[in-house]
Amino acid sequence: MNLLEVIRNQAKEKNKRIVLPEAHDERVIRAAGILNSEKIAQVILIGNEDRINNLALKIDVSLQNIQIVDLQLSDDMTEFAEIYYLKRKHKGISLNQARKMMLNPTFFAAMMVAKDLADGCVSGADTTTGDVLRAALHIIGTHPDTPTVSSDFFMITPDEKKIWSFADCAVLPEPTAEQLADIAIATAETHRKVIKEEPLVAMLSFSTKGSARHALVDKVQQATELVRRKRPDILVDGELQLDAAIVPKVASKKAPESPVAGKANVLIFPDLQAGNIGYKLTQRIAGCEAVGPIIQGLRKPMNDLSRGCSVDDIVNVAAIMCNMS
Ligand code: ACO
Repeated sequence: MNLLEVIRNQAKEKNKRIVLPEAHDERVIRAAGILNSEKIAQVILIGNEDRINNLALKIDVSLQNIQIVDLQLSDDMTEFAEIYYLKRKHKGISLNQARKMMLNPTFFAAMMVAKDLADGCVSGADTTTGDVLRAALHIIGTHPDTPTVSSDFFMITPDEKKIWSFADCAVLPEPTAEQLADIAIATAETHRKVIKEEPLVAMLSFSTKGSARHALVDKVQQATELVRRKRPDILVDGELQLDAAIVPKVASKKAPESPVAGKANVLIFPDLQAGNIGYKLTQRIAGCEAVGPIIQGLRKPMNDLSRGCSVDDIVNVAAIMCNMS
């Protein structure tokens, strides 16, 4: 059984309620059908009931046992708009603007998660990353322990023998040292919960243990110290170059005392440019499968998809999310 099959099976035991707000999209309906028929999660679709049923009929997907919420007819609309207005009025939005925002299915779905009417939301098949993240940030809010929203990609080698967590490759362009520490802690937790492996966290840089001097290196060193202080239970080291982090021979020369060097399975990139380029290089040149981005740091789970996602991607992200709470 490969990792994704294991994750789907583990999700079944959790029996979570996942809301999919983009039910106008054929891929989402197909994914809903799989999640439902394989009992990976309970599914809630958002959209016009007739249109959803017609689409499902056309592509031969059974929606039996799937709840459909038409936000135009929802009794929750007034309350949701008021809650959104109260959350965002300090930013100058009116109640009328709040009502309009709640007509956006992704924002409505985020409110369902915030109000505990669903355990998690997956959106992004037809919505930009920015809009999915804004719905999550504005409505669900951040986790009190790691109040920085970031993302984790699972990078799976072609022979499926090794899985790394890469972060942050999709959310925060220029993290401070504090935010970098939050990203490392959240990613270690995600790796532990989903991959079920003890996280060995490398804080990456172009320098190993003071081999170069620069303000950017200082930031990674500060972040490493913060992780150690906040979470002494997490094995972390930095700053480390990538080869020192994952190649034992290089580690023995550059960082022989390190508890992490040479065997890191969680790689924390110093900023979004490095992270985004790093995961795409590993995917495109090394042929690793990239599963994610898995959004972390939120009070409750909400996840993003790439607009080019497949049906399997949607099912996998939903299954991973079920394992995160
Ligand atoms: N963690 C915690 N809080 C945050 C974060 C974060 N990462 N980012 C923004 N916030 C806060 C803001 O400070 C703001 O707080 P406030 O309401 O109290 O002022 C609130 O969340 C909402 O922020 P907005 O102003 O609405 O959104 P913002 O303009 O800050 O944008 C976003 C946030 C959407 C995450 C932005 O940083 C972004 O677009 N990131 C890059 C996404 C992207 O394009 N990724 C690459 C493609 S994905 C891929 O390749 C797989």
